[in-house]
Amino acid sequence: MIEALRRRKEVGAIAASGRHLANAITSPIGSNGHVDCVLEVGAGMGAFTHHILHRLGPNGQADIVELNPRFCDKLREDVVEPWAKQNMDRSATVIEGCIEDASLKPKYTTIVCGLPFNSFPPDVAERILQQLIGLLSPSGTLAFFEYAGLPSLRCAFPGPWQRNAREHRRCLQELTGSMAQERQFIFRNILPAWAVFLRAEGA
Ligand SMILES: C[S@@+](CC[C@H](N)C(=O)[O-])C[C@H]1O[C@@H](n2cnc3c(N)ncnc32)[C@H](O)[C@@H]1O
Repeated sequence: MIEALRRRKEVGAIAASGRHLANAITSPIGSNGHVDCVLEVGAGMGAFTHHILHRLGPNGQADIVELNPRFCDKLREDVVEPWAKQNMDRSATVIEGCIEDASLKPKYTTIVCGLPFNSFPPDVAERILQQLIGLLSPSGTLAFFEYAGLPSLRCAFPGPWQRNAREHRRCLQELTGSMAQERQFIFRNILPAWAVFLRAEGA
C-alpha cells in the first residue's frame, strides 16, 4: 500500500486485485488442451501470479514482468520459489524491468496484463497494447481489466482526462477491432471491474 502511494502513476490502483477478479482474468490458462506459455505484465505483489501458477499445466512456463524491484524480490521469494519446489515439471521466471524493454518472443498462449492502461499517456498505452498483441501465439488470449464505469466517467466530463480517455478508447478500438472480445463483470472487487479477453479472430 505504501509502495502504491509512492508510485501512484505506475501502480495505478488503490488496492491489489481481489481473488474474484484474479480467478476470472486467469481463466483462459489451462483451458485449451495445449501446453501453457503465459506472460504476466505488471504483477505487483502477485495478486494474479498465484492464480496463474496454480493453473499452469505440466511443462507450462510463465514469464512474469514487473517494473518495481521490491515487488520483484517479493514475487521471487514469496510466490515463485515456494511454488517451484512443488512443481518441478513447470517453470516461472520473474523479469525485472518495464515491458517495453523486455526482449520476448511471440509465443504466449495467454497474456495476463495488470497494467493501469488508463493511467498511462495514450501513446504509451497504445505502444504496449500493440506489443502485447504481437507477442500472442496464433490462438492466444490477451486478458486485462478495466475498472467499471471509470472510462465512461472520464469521457463524460470536460478536462484533460476526457481527451486522454477518448484517445484510449479510440486506440483500443483501432488495435483490437479485428479480435474477438469477451467481457466479464466482476462486482466483488475494490473497485468493481471488467475482465476483458481478446482473441485473434478465427483462432
Ligand atoms: C495496478 S498494479 C497491478 C498489480 C496486480 N497485478 C494487481 O492486479 O493487483 C500495476 C503494476 O504494474 C507495474 N508496472 C507499471 N508499469 C509497468 C511497465 N511498463 N512494465 C512492467 N510493469 C509495470 C507496477 O509496478 C505495478 O506493480
